[in-house]
Amino acid sequence: MSARTIQVDARLHDWLVTHSLRDTDAHRTLREHNLTLEDGGMQTSPEQSQFMTFLARSIRSVRAIEIGVYTGASAMAIATALPPAGRLVACDISDEHLETARATWKAAGVDDRIESRIGPAVETLAAMLDEPEAGHYDFMYVDADKENSLNYYEHGLKLLRPGGIIAIDNMFRGGDVVDPAVQDESTVATRELARFLIEDERIDYSLVPIGDGLALARIA
Ligand SMILES: C[S@@+](CC[C@H](N)C(=O)[O-])C[C@H]1O[C@@H](n2cnc3c(N)ncnc32)[C@H](O)[C@@H]1O
Repeated sequence: MSARTIQVDARLHDWLVTHSLRDTDAHRTLREHNLTLEDGGMQTSPEQSQFMTFLARSIRSVRAIEIGVYTGASAMAIATALPPAGRLVACDISDEHLETARATWKAAGVDDRIESRIGPAVETLAAMLDEPEAGHYDFMYVDADKENSLNYYEHGLKLLRPGGIIAIDNMFRGGDVVDPAVQDESTVATRELARFLIEDERIDYSLVPIGDGLALARIA
């Protein structure tokens, strides 16, 4: 028992990864590739990705949405949780890394479950509201431009079924949320989002200290 969340230092983190991570060749190959990219740190951490597989599978997800695909790590994790006939709509504003993502998903055997949509995600989600699947999605992961996270969340409330889960990344902003000197647009938006979510009675809520802080909203 612990009255508060303990700090995970590098040694404990190594232990956590060694004793919980179920790594695959597809994961390792992608991580090595991302190390060669200037912005490779944008990848969702492996332990958080595995947690999202666990979460999405726990609620028997069949249809899922991801906002912010990059080279495809978290999309692979979510798609892994879906049954073979399931579908992940993977949204990104750029197709720069789509070839890498597609190769990764193929190596993981989930490429046929993932549909890419390229464009500003606000527009992609707005268009999805007019499709027959609207209201029938089970899981959504938000990991893109932080200024729009609240917007994505509001779309998610309409696109997901009751009992569906919206997961929003980077709630800690690397610790910047508690530093009043930091006033950039993304951090200010994240603080506003945190204030909003705790009061929103449409959801059950938890903010999990995994990765860079993962907000979980279960639609009531
Ligand atoms: C942090 S990365 C996503 C990392 C990914 N989830 C992973 O685990 O590898 C953020 C992504 O959001 C995308 N993005 C930024 N602004 C966007 C927008 N307005 N609409 C859609 N995607 C956007 C970027 O192109 C980038 O690929």
